[in-house]
Amino acid sequence: MKRNFRSILVTGGAGFIGSHVIRSLLKNHAEAKIVNLDLLTYAGNLENLRDIEGNAHYEFVKGDIQDRALIQSLFNEHAFDAVVHLAAESHVDRSIVNPMAFLETNILGTATLLHAAKNAWEGNMDAKCFYHISTDEVYGSLGAEGLFTEDTPYDPRSPYSSSKASSDHLVRAWHHTYGLPVVISNCSNNYGSFQFPEKLIPLMIRNIRDQRPLPVYGEGVNVRDWLWVEDHANAIDVILHNGNFGRTYNIGGLNEWRNIDLVHELIRLVDGAMGRPEGTSKSLIEYVKDRAGHDMRYAIDASRIEEELGWKPSITFEKGLAATVAWYLENSDWLDSVTSGQYQQYYQKMYSNRGEE
Ligand code: NAD
Ligand code: TYD
Repeated sequence: MKRNFRSILVTGGAGFIGSHVIRSLLKNHAEAKIVNLDLLTYAGNLENLRDIEGNAHYEFVKGDIQDRALIQSLFNEHAFDAVVHLAAESHVDRSIVNPMAFLETNILGTATLLHAAKNAWEGNMDAKCFYHISTDEVYGSLGAEGLFTEDTPYDPRSPYSSSKASSDHLVRAWHHTYGLPVVISNCSNNYGSFQFPEKLIPLMIRNIRDQRPLPVYGEGVNVRDWLWVEDHANAIDVILHNGNFGRTYNIGGLNEWRNIDLVHELIRLVDGAMGRPEGTSKSLIEYVKDRAGHDMRYAIDASRIEEELGWKPSITFEKGLAATVAWYLENSDWLDSVTSGQYQQYYQKMYSNRGEE
């Protein structure tokens, strides 16, 4: 390992990927203290971190990445030597309805963090790292052939992807202009436990479980390249500690699925797990109005991270998807509570008497 960190700021750690990243960092780097800064939007949920909330190396702070005074005081208090920045508005459909929230959090929030890191580390950038977690959607949409490489020109098409592209540019600008030690990774679609059920896989699992309609956008022929979230968390750990500054790494699992084929696979798995005759839920499929500007295909060439840093996905999609379906069915309470607002009550109960807000 090239680098070790004592004090790491993780943003967005109460979200889907962030919660896995925190768990993985605590497990693999016992020497590090992790501070999780998260606003607890609808997508952030302290239930996702319940198993580590008592860990002495972990602290939760509720706050906004756009809050300059708060970020500066956190840098003063904790002397962070690394930032792992995941906080974002992350859902394309919401970005179509409410783009401004995406511009504020994803662009201005990232700029606020860069500014604070530069101010805190100025004059001593050694052994520091600002790591920005991004998406393959910045590269736009592929036709039937080809893969996104790190040299693919940016061509974002949704408010979400263009706000992420903007934040990537800001991170590179702070590297070139101020010498901030940065790394960026652009990952394909993640799946696994604790994903908010507005995204395709948990939404479909929930609806198949409850025998509700399965809304497939357009003709269902759009293609996504799926990676198990724990493999993404592991790649983030590898890049944080070994990635070259100023460099971008694409992360993906060479695992492309047409949406409609994936929905059929989920029907097979969920119906099977619930003891229903094969094909029971096929009649629930409803082709609905397509997403505006719907990107046709994403697919990642991950050879750089494999060759330079020795990272590879650890499990097959077959295994990962079966484990994911089993997790959502076993954790029905989680699936139900994140959509009913109960996690807000959980937060109130846990933190209202600690004088934090
Ligand atoms: P998520 O929506 O599950 O979680 C986002 C987290 O950020 C939530 O906990 C939310 O409360 C927090 N947050 C939002 N606005 C905030 C603010 N202003 N201040 C502080 N915290 C705030 O998202 P995710 O799927 O875990 O994605 C995490 C990161 O990874 C994002 O940057 C996303 O662009 C990127 N990414 C996601 C995927 C994917 O498939 N989900 C793929 C590639 C990259
Ligand atoms: P999503 O999980 O929102 O991820 P992204 O848009 O960032 O790739 O959607 C994955 C694919 O599934 C995308 O092509 C849109 C499609 N989709 C549906 O067909 N129905 C749905 O209800 C959702 C949420 C997505």
